[in-house]
Amino acid sequence: MTKMRSLVRGVGKYLPEKIITNDELARTVDTTDEWIVQRTGIEQRHVAADGELTSDLATKAAQEALKNAGLVAGDIDLIIVATTTPDMTFPSTAVFVQQKLGIHHGMAFDIQAVCSGFVFAVATADSYLKNRLAKRALVIGAETFTRILDWEDRTTCVLFGDGAGAMVLEGVELPDDQADQGILGSRLRSDGEHWDKLFVDGGVSSTKTAGVVHMQGREVFKHAVGMISDVIHGALDDTGYEADDLDWFVPHQANRRIIEGAGKKLGIPPEKVIVTVDKHANTSAASVPMALAVGVADGRIKPGDLVMLEAMGGGFTWGASLIRWT
Ligand code: UT7
Repeated sequence: MTKMRSLVRGVGKYLPEKIITNDELARTVDTTDEWIVQRTGIEQRHVAADGELTSDLATKAAQEALKNAGLVAGDIDLIIVATTTPDMTFPSTAVFVQQKLGIHHGMAFDIQAVCSGFVFAVATADSYLKNRLAKRALVIGAETFTRILDWEDRTTCVLFGDGAGAMVLEGVELPDDQADQGILGSRLRSDGEHWDKLFVDGGVSSTKTAGVVHMQGREVFKHAVGMISDVIHGALDDTGYEADDLDWFVPHQANRRIIEGAGKKLGIPPEKVIVTVDKHANTSAASVPMALAVGVADGRIKPGDLVMLEAMGGGFTWGASLIRWT
């Protein structure tokens, strides 16, 4: 007997050149480097240049992922971009990436699940590949999140940054005894009851504007660790693994205290956790794939490793994905 599996072929990331440090922010808004580092772990964030679009960041991350996979753009027949900050209301950012990569076949579309978008996109691509709707997918998390910040609101503007991360997945039919590879299981959740704890006060059908971010940080924080732990336990239960079996935990990078809280609750030691929030800040859907790209590039995540991805954000949405790295 055989099983269809989505195997990871490569990952990549792109960060815009411009960096804003906490001290620089403290010159324009009532905050301090000390407060930001203590409460969040963030030291700096990257900010896209004027005219640099989400699809530009996404395309650069995708090109690096393709190079690391030893593939070319023409090998891809599915592009999913997870973003909350699309180039335009329509068409999707994914079709702009498709155009910039010079791909004319297959399909491309966006997913909107805010900070959980990449995990939702991985699970979606996995289903497409397993059902043979496509052969090779580019799964991208890309954000120009700083464009929807109120730079006078110190409770939000210090938290976020821009960037993009990408993963190439390939659907492969494997004999049962070799099927412990690739995406092993995913759990996705959402509960719109919590929408007003983290939202943007604009939209096409409501205000005809893009709006800016509002967050009840303490409320989000209160729910985060429990929700994250729930979906991780779910993904472990589905696949027969335990937290002890994990080689790497790659969480959404919103706040170092949330990451440490989740690690503690799950019994995952800090040396098995990939942390980039210090240098990247919270890049919403881009945070998990960029953290993966960092962990692979510096040699920590290796073929054969068991890797747990996790994210939680606006909606609320939350999810986890368990991957045997290839
Ligand atoms: O990515 C999607 C998911 N998002 C998250 O996971 C974010 C979750 N929330 C958090 O990470 C934290 O709640 C924050 C980092 C946003 C805030 O940390 P906190 O420890 O929950 O602080 P707080 O909101 O309870 O605020 C404490 C104090 C307040 O002053 P008072 O009322 O105690 O006098 C704030 O006004 O800190 C003040 N404050 C600041 N002070 C200096 C809020 N923002 C700042 C700031 N600089 N930037």
